[in-house]
Amino acid sequence: MNRRQFLSASLAGAGVASIASLTGCMPKLSIEQRGEFQYQLRLQEAQFELIPGTQTPGLGFNGVYPSPIIRAKQGKPVVIEVINELSEPTTIHWHGIRIDIAMDGVPFLSQKPIMPGETFRYEFIPPDAGTFWYHPHMNSVVQLGKGLVGLLLVEEADSEQFSPDDYAADLPLMLKNWHLNDDGSFKPLTIPRYAARMGTPGNYETVNGVNKPSLSVPANAWIRLRFANVDNTLVYKLRVKNRPAYIVSIDANPLAEPKPLESHSIGAGMRVDIAIKAPSPGEEVIIENGKGRLFFELMRLKAEDWPLKKPTAAEVPMPMPNPLSEPKLDQAEIKHFVFEWEGAVTPADKMGKAKHAFWTINRRAWEGMKPGNIPAPLAKLELGKSYIFDLKNNTPHMHPIHMHGVMFKVIKSNKKKIEPFFTDTVLMEKNERVQIAFVADNPGRWMYHCHVIEHMKTGLMGYIEIA
Ligand code: C2O
Ligand code: CU
Ligand code: CU
Repeated sequence: MNRRQFLSASLAGAGVASIASLTGCMPKLSIEQRGEFQYQLRLQEAQFELIPGTQTPGLGFNGVYPSPIIRAKQGKPVVIEVINELSEPTTIHWHGIRIDIAMDGVPFLSQKPIMPGETFRYEFIPPDAGTFWYHPHMNSVVQLGKGLVGLLLVEEADSEQFSPDDYAADLPLMLKNWHLNDDGSFKPLTIPRYAARMGTPGNYETVNGVNKPSLSVPANAWIRLRFANVDNTLVYKLRVKNRPAYIVSIDANPLAEPKPLESHSIGAGMRVDIAIKAPSPGEEVIIENGKGRLFFELMRLKAEDWPLKKPTAAEVPMPMPNPLSEPKLDQAEIKHFVFEWEGAVTPADKMGKAKHAFWTINRRAWEGMKPGNIPAPLAKLELGKSYIFDLKNNTPHMHPIHMHGVMFKVIKSNKKKIEPFFTDTVLMEKNERVQIAFVADNPGRWMYHCHVIEHMKTGLMGYIEIA
């Protein structure tokens, strides 16, 4: 344990030096110095300065926001000790990682809740590289809504074709709109009338905890922007205003070729890596977010003269594909899933709280879990077999549908032409029908839900059993 690194020390207070450390101008430890990837995360009540000059009573990993970044390497073990210093139970889920079910961080389905004062050790070897994230999987409206959301970046295994240093800067960019009053206190995180529609939107827009930040980047070199939508509710429609930009990876999976970015929407839980060749020193790049038909500034990049580690390439540097199994479409079994709105409020429970069930998957609203009371899966899959899931969104709202434990390939939509791509979350437009395919190669009981947190909490959730 002598080479253990504590996040609080090694990542030098994401709260204090946030922008510096996130834009890469702070010296990073090399892989050799980092040794094993061992971390400690304490879940704590904490004060954040989000609106300048105010305090927000949030919940933080190691008491800070933006949360510490967990850096790992493809194929190398990671150990993360989670210490629950909250006054309520929790678990931590590693979104997008193809993991052993025992480490998936879902209460009752994969582990016992981590009670206040308890510690749980998560250990896994990430098979895939890319932009991932981590968050609790209990009381999610509150725990995620108040700040327990962080990035998990898995660096590519060494290869001749690609080195992470092919990008002169690698910027993690966490998008979240907070539900705040002007004095920094929280507004309600959920309002039933909105939960039954698109979800309750936050109002204070942040990138890494800052409203409309301006970040320095090295001039005249390729940089990688790792956008992660860690919001409970919103879709971000990203566009780069005044510079060519390319989509490199979706969720954690590199595309076959870089795709010129016009605009790209990411729903709650989704990520996109974008490559830009930064302009000359002093010039700026404006990144915008679309709302309706209009676009507004989200953040900007300011190019500066930095010494480069490596001469920058002519073409967009492309990471290698992740080692995913290709689904056999001609032999795949088709399963159907229909997402619908139902609008039911069940009678108040013992605590006097009404339980809302607004959404259903195949006519079933998720009933929740308790020890010894785990509902039946939505589907049982045979280990090793290929499947096509036919997903129908029969609602006038968007739903980012996420599955744990596997990556799936989006192969078809009735609304747009699809260049098939692997992902862990697919954003379904209203009334869209999408087909996804995958090999059921990871045994376990895997959550399968909408990542709009209020939707999953009011019915749009279930699980798939692979055995
Ligand atoms: Cu980020 Cu169950 O998911
Ligand atoms: Cu997940
Ligand atoms: Cu939804």
